[in-house]
Amino acid sequence: MGAFFLPAAPRENGGAVKTPYEAQSSGNGRLIKCRSELQYRLWPPETMGNRMTGDPHISLLASITWLSDLDPPPEPAVADWLLERGSMTRRFERHCQRVSIRRGREGYFPAQALGEDEVALLPPCERYWLREIILCGDDRPWLAGRTLMPENAMDGAEWALTTLGDMPLGRWLFRDRAPERDFIQLGRTAGLWARRSCLRPNGKPLLLTELFLPDAPLYC
Ligand code: PHB
Repeated sequence: MGAFFLPAAPRENGGAVKTPYEAQSSGNGRLIKCRSELQYRLWPPETMGNRMTGDPHISLLASITWLSDLDPPPEPAVADWLLERGSMTRRFERHCQRVSIRRGREGYFPAQALGEDEVALLPPCERYWLREIILCGDDRPWLAGRTLMPENAMDGAEWALTTLGDMPLGRWLFRDRAPERDFIQLGRTAGLWARRSCLRPNGKPLLLTELFLPDAPLYC
């Protein structure tokens, strides 16, 4: 079970983060003084303004192995999550009181700064909009997400992608109806499941990679 190529989707419808930690620079990472515990420990993720940098869950996105047809398929309950064609945020909302977003890197990045394989799934462009997030259910990290869209496709309503802020992407993507989805490819890393899809909001290509973190309800 590698990539699922799907027919057209059905027409269904800044301020600084308040942190309890004091940061100091130190060699490999940042030495963080936890005021509450009065002890020092190394604590990723770091933050820059209200952004996470170096989040270990987001870093895992780069190590996903995409499956081929020869790999064993996920068990049905997991496949049901991975092949979800509606809004994943809405699905998560059925399993918690509150979904929230922690933002990582966001901005235009040159093609050379991105993964060759992911750029190859999108039309060529000099720069791509990148958004990396952690989606939390009741403050527990459930999903690492990475969105890419070629800059030259963002000449209409897609510009809204740059202003999402802490709003989950799905609220924009699925605002009227599910966008077309070209494929769902399944992947694995560190014993976790991942998927990626090329979606087409307003016909514009958007590559969305999602890694389901250990606390996510699909492992329950
Ligand atoms: C995002 O806000 O970027 C986002 C939200 C939920 C996902 C993927 C990405 O499943």
